[in-house]
Amino acid sequence: MEMEQLVALCRRRGFLFQSSEIYGGLQGFWDYGPLGVELKRNVREAWWRDMVTAHNELEPPPGAPSAFEMVGLDCSIIMHPQVWKCSGHYDLFHDFMVDCRESNKRYRYDQVCGRWVECKGQRIFVASDLGGDEGIELTRHKAMKFFNLRGKDADALAWEGTLVSLAELEEPYVELKIIDTKEKPASGKPSFLVDFSQVLGPDAKTLGTLTEPREFNLMLETYPGPVRDESSKAFLRPETAQGIFVNFKNVCDSTRVRIPFGIAQIGKSFRNEITPRNFTFRSREFEQMEIEFFCHPDTSPEWYRYWRDRRYQWYLDLGLAGERLRLRDHEKDELSHYSRGTADIEYAFPFLPTGEFGELEGVAHRGDFDLRSHAEGKLVRQGDKLVVETDAEGKPRHRGSGKDLSYFDDQTKERFIPHVIEPSAGADRATLAFLCEAYREDEAPDEHGKPTKRLFLKLHPRLAPIKAAVFPLVKKDGMPEVAREIYKTLKPHFPVFYDEKSAVGRRYRRQDEVGTPFCITVDSQTLQDGTVTIRDRDTLRQWRVHKDECLDELKTRLMA
Ligand code: GAP
Repeated sequence: MEMEQLVALCRRRGFLFQSSEIYGGLQGFWDYGPLGVELKRNVREAWWRDMVTAHNELEPPPGAPSAFEMVGLDCSIIMHPQVWKCSGHYDLFHDFMVDCRESNKRYRYDQVCGRWVECKGQRIFVASDLGGDEGIELTRHKAMKFFNLRGKDADALAWEGTLVSLAELEEPYVELKIIDTKEKPASGKPSFLVDFSQVLGPDAKTLGTLTEPREFNLMLETYPGPVRDESSKAFLRPETAQGIFVNFKNVCDSTRVRIPFGIAQIGKSFRNEITPRNFTFRSREFEQMEIEFFCHPDTSPEWYRYWRDRRYQWYLDLGLAGERLRLRDHEKDELSHYSRGTADIEYAFPFLPTGEFGELEGVAHRGDFDLRSHAEGKLVRQGDKLVVETDAEGKPRHRGSGKDLSYFDDQTKERFIPHVIEPSAGADRATLAFLCEAYREDEAPDEHGKPTKRLFLKLHPRLAPIKAAVFPLVKKDGMPEVAREIYKTLKPHFPVFYDEKSAVGRRYRRQDEVGTPFCITVDSQTLQDGTVTIRDRDTLRQWRVHKDECLDELKTRLMA
């Protein structure tokens, strides 16, 4: 499946629209249409139900070290600015970006890639902001234009190596003189010494238009209240997790939860991504589904493995195929400064080059970093210890709340700072992965019995926006009245669609395209014996049941 086909279907059938489309759209923002809103709601509800409401705290689930409790929270998007100073987002949550002086476009430094090419005695680096085959094609096209070549002269271009990111440029491509990008000097900022004079920027026609990489904080700023100055500056949350950490004590004090337990939250997060791209995959406003699971330090490695495996299985159970879904443990040098283990659950999205995977969810062992930071002040690593970061005078650089965020176990009489396992998923990325996986084409008989191309979404019934459609075969002979009765019986139980317009074959196809698992048709036999046909979206099998049994039949099949 080509990504463009899915994007077109999403727009045509009302799953997703560009935000503010009538004004030309706004990059990095998306609106869910009537079907999309149902689909995403089903993703969220499946997550909330499976992780929180249906969780049985009396018995250990399969693979869990012990029984545990799960509760929920819904925190505000704007929080005290000190939250982000202690969490590290204020100092560390940034990307490096380069600007193009010619096109006025901004790119993420590590996403600009390109190839060296020599022609007519000149050697240049042709950059692209796309990777894979598309990037190769784009750089070829740009080089042809730059050197003023016609199609038949393509052999005049002598390419060296394959696509490489600007940030990764190493020998033998040292001509760009990138020095010391990894080494961090005392200020905590990497230094760059880059000579971009031979680089043709992704959207430039002349050489040397890219600026040196600069730091760019990803948090979106706002100014609550009437005064607009530094002291009133606040941020839209870049993750939902911090709301959970700062409420840890409130939850412990106001409920009877005992460690181990988890707090779940679903909500919007905002990041000023430099290059939002790939449909909803990287947006500036998106929704997260996060759990912070608090446990004793001694058992935390077992809980980490439990959550990693359980979250991977959740995607498989809802229909993502094993060969396109993988669980990847981070290498030691990929881990954040606080993490003792992180695994990503990744999906082979169709917009990625073959063999590449994109992150759906991260499961991280965060140790006691967050609770300690919010109690003591922002922590930094010193050797193998985490210590409060201090300024030149030895004072904490970002002061914590000063509140005691430790936990007292009244059975063992032990006081400790819990360790945290964090499964952090994106609702929009999960929705996109389910859509990509569901997109199918096959051949099926049309209304005249002739095999024609059929497009259908093989969505898991729990996720399908509409669970069943009800049709009268024709709009006469009392069939619409019976069909409406069935519709009225089903509607209070799940989303059902009634349709009597156009040929029944076309109505089936329209429902296939939006992933409706079952279609119920009232025909002339219904008027004689009260039976209707039920048609299965995936197998196209049809069978008859009595109209009064439709509800039970569908309930059984939707639960299966
Ligand atoms: N609290 C940890 C955390 O926020 P993250 O890996 O930065 O970790 C977690 O984000 C998940 O949120 C990602 O796996 C992804 O599904 C989703 N996500 C992050 N940035 C996103 C963006 N710009 N657009 C859409 N989803 C995003």
